[in-house]
Amino acid sequence: MSGLKLFRYVAWAAVAVLACVAGALVYFQTTANENSGALIKPLAAIGGPFELVSGTGETVTDKTFAGKPTVMFFGFTYCPDVCPTTLSELQGWMAELGPDAEKLNYAFVSVDPERDTPDVMRDYVWAFDKRITPLTGSKEQVDAMLKAYRVYAKRVPLDDGDYTMDHSAAVYLMNENNEFVGTIAYGEAEETALAKLKRLIKNTAASS
Ligand code: NI
Repeated sequence: MSGLKLFRYVAWAAVAVLACVAGALVYFQTTANENSGALIKPLAAIGGPFELVSGTGETVTDKTFAGKPTVMFFGFTYCPDVCPTTLSELQGWMAELGPDAEKLNYAFVSVDPERDTPDVMRDYVWAFDKRITPLTGSKEQVDAMLKAYRVYAKRVPLDDGDYTMDHSAAVYLMNENNEFVGTIAYGEAEETALAKLKRLIKNTAASS
């Protein structure tokens, strides 16, 4: 096993441990809140303010999304599989929600700002749905957001000199105050994903 390979195994093991801790926390909080109807109690440890750039070059911050819950996930336009799958699943959920889809914000955040310029992001994301906000920015802006949102992303060199990105695949559910309240896992059944989105909408209506 090469040093790099070993490093990647160790890094993945660390990610797995973190994922388990987060999972346990989410499970515990979900259980604790069964009667309140909340997805989970907002977790302050994940999320926070951010400043990024939209597909049309405008500055977008957490304030831009205030007042509506936000469905956001992280990826990159060169992603061969996970990102296009998630985007097309999101399309399906939005179609199922019908008019209620307007009660949520949607954002796709690049973990690869070097290649994902605002133009590239706009063309890619809007091919799926123009209601999804493409977000990228400087490396510093993106790194700050990934850190605050506990998103794993790592550049992996390819044999041909190119590179790809390993990244977390979960869809984040943020409430109307941009507080983290849950996730939809990659490949989660449409029925449970939709139930979570409906709950997110309903909780907002109940608290406003
Ligand atoms: Ni991806």
